[in-house]
Amino acid sequence: MRVMILRDAEAVAAAGAQRLAEVVRRNPAPVLGLATGGTVGGVYQELIRLHREQGLSLAHARSFNLDEYLGLSADDPQSYHRFMFEQLFAHVDLPRGNWQVPDGMAMDPRAEGRRYEAAIEAAGGIDIQLLGIGRDGHIGFNEPGSSLASRTRVKALAEQTRRDNARFFGALERVPRLAITMGVGTILSARECLLLATGESKAVAIAAMVEGPVTALVPASALQLHPATTVILDPAAASGLKLAEYYRAAEEAEAELRMLQKEA
Ligand code: GLP
Repeated sequence: MRVMILRDAEAVAAAGAQRLAEVVRRNPAPVLGLATGGTVGGVYQELIRLHREQGLSLAHARSFNLDEYLGLSADDPQSYHRFMFEQLFAHVDLPRGNWQVPDGMAMDPRAEGRRYEAAIEAAGGIDIQLLGIGRDGHIGFNEPGSSLASRTRVKALAEQTRRDNARFFGALERVPRLAITMGVGTILSARECLLLATGESKAVAIAAMVEGPVTALVPASALQLHPATTVILDPAAASGLKLAEYYRAAEEAEAELRMLQKEA
């Protein structure tokens, strides 16, 4: 894992957007894995800015979102469909038929999981997967205990996740108990992963994910086995890391290497 500790949440969002934009610019048919949540909202704002001010085009891109609540329709204000539309899709040139979010209203949610996996595969797989992290170490809605080989399927939400997300629903009882989510194995199949976290509330999960054992108790820890994962943090989210100084020094050394390569 590459760990980058940046000065604040704004810098984290900008760095995340920058990396996504690079993949979009370099790839003739990029496939993006997208995420929802407060942390990635800043990334989408920055992508919209790059689209408006620097001509970044998503017209040739496709995207697959990580997850959706079961029982919420695409136009429900709390659905991830709606989140994505309002925070990104309405403001950029990604064509309507090019983005997918799992269908929370599918008659047969298990079949929807299989359909979603097949659609990702038919698109050639995900080039870069954007991720946030839950306080309990979940990615997508892969709660603690998830199989590290899981594919898109139905998952029951953990109580802590329902409580954390209750702020969007107004009351805990309104938060769905089930979601459909890409599996940990689906996420590990992406060619590159980019996980962003900010704030002290994520510090324990980040330390467990980066420096703890690979365990189903912390589904994000499976990313230790992924060959190209970058974790971008603000100082508060990084505050539980034992090797923070090493990661900072490694970034400086990397910058030096890039300079040398440019000169050569
Ligand atoms: C939800 C999403 C996750 C996301 C998490 C963190 O549970 N399913 O994909 O990582 O929220 O959200 P936030 O960035 O708001 O803390």
